[in-house]
Amino acid sequence: MQKTTLITGGAGYIGSHTALTLIEAGQHVLILDNLCNSCHESIGRLEHLAHARVDFVEGDIRDTPLLERLFSQYDIDAVVHFAGLKSVANSVCHPLDYYANNVVGTFNLCEVMARFNVFNLVFSSSATVYGEPAHMPIFEDAGTGVPASPYGRSKLMVEQLLADLARSEPRWSIALLRYFNPVGAHESGLIGEDPSGRPNNLLPFLTQVAIGRLPELTVFGNDYPTADGTCVRDYIHVVDLAEGHLKALQVLRRDPGIHTWNLGTGIGYSVLQMIRSFEDVTGVSIAFRFAGRRAGDIAQCWADASKARRELGWYARRNLEQMIQDSWRWQSSNPYGYRPPVELSAAFAH
Ligand code: NAD
Ligand code: WQD
Repeated sequence: MQKTTLITGGAGYIGSHTALTLIEAGQHVLILDNLCNSCHESIGRLEHLAHARVDFVEGDIRDTPLLERLFSQYDIDAVVHFAGLKSVANSVCHPLDYYANNVVGTFNLCEVMARFNVFNLVFSSSATVYGEPAHMPIFEDAGTGVPASPYGRSKLMVEQLLADLARSEPRWSIALLRYFNPVGAHESGLIGEDPSGRPNNLLPFLTQVAIGRLPELTVFGNDYPTADGTCVRDYIHVVDLAEGHLKALQVLRRDPGIHTWNLGTGIGYSVLQMIRSFEDVTGVSIAFRFAGRRAGDIAQCWADASKARRELGWYARRNLEQMIQDSWRWQSSNPYGYRPPVELSAAFAH
């Protein structure tokens, strides 16, 4: 039987790009996703790009009998674990959903993995686990801080759970990948980020203003201690991120233990720089206004990504222009993402 990499949450934004990267590298993948924040269409598009059928199961990582069936049916030797909820604001209103999906879901997954002797795991962590670091850039050994939301705390709890597992059983080989700010889309414009409702993140908000779905961008705060007063972040192209997962899997398969890698570019851009660059690259002007700070935002955050370069042979190759170009191609060729609104679907049908 062919070795299989299980990708939980593989119908989502980062998962779909990673699935494509792994398939292109010759791996057999199985996607498990409950579609709570994605849809079948992304799997169809993935199959189109991969020129192959993709094994997809609609289901939840908390469904133990389902996981047992999948681990029995397929020769799974590694799991890339994206499944979870990710909205910082929503997590404040619905903390139990976040602990149930992110923490209990991961607990359940690990339990079944161990029972089936599968010990290779790549986990989607986040720079949010650093809290508000005192120094930039952020190194992996800076120590974790106090994340500002239940979402962030759920990521930190999972990191701690996985560290305990690795200490308890030497066969575990775990990568904690701390993503900075993923943006962009596959260069085909066929797969990308498809937020449901009003976007929380900067880039999808910018592209939806540019396409005319939203009237203007609100810039949260212009009194931060940064060069232009707006917050600075390390934006990273989603395909670079996907390639980081491939490299991490390769290292895990030969080097057990627990590893932590920052996946960022090492370069910070302010919100105003993002707006100006977006206008320069696309030729579309962005209406924006300043408002007060958003609760929980830190002034600045960018990675030192030299550990990933040294140990994984990985670095982010795509620059800000490519991130913006690819985000814009995705948004302009799919103004309503994967799912046109009902009234538009009806219009297409006639
Ligand atoms: P996404 O919402 O697009 O993808 C997550 C996928 O998981 C979705 O398709 C969703 O339907 C699925 N899912 C959620 N709960 C599930 C469950 N219980 N069982 C099965 N499937 C479930 O999000 P994304 O941006 O692709 O993020 C992927 C991972 O990376 C998440 O764990 C997220 O927390 C983490 N992360 C994301 C960012 C970011 O800014 N996008 C940054 C750091 C970390
Ligand atoms: C970037 C900057 C905003 C929207 C979040 C999570 C983090 C990780 C990545 C999952 C900030 C400003 C934004 C808007 C704005 N996710 N902004 N107007 O907050 O750095 O990180 O996503 O793990 O955990 O917290 O990303 O894209 O929301 O914001 O001015 O409408 O853009 O204030 O300075 P953030 P973001």
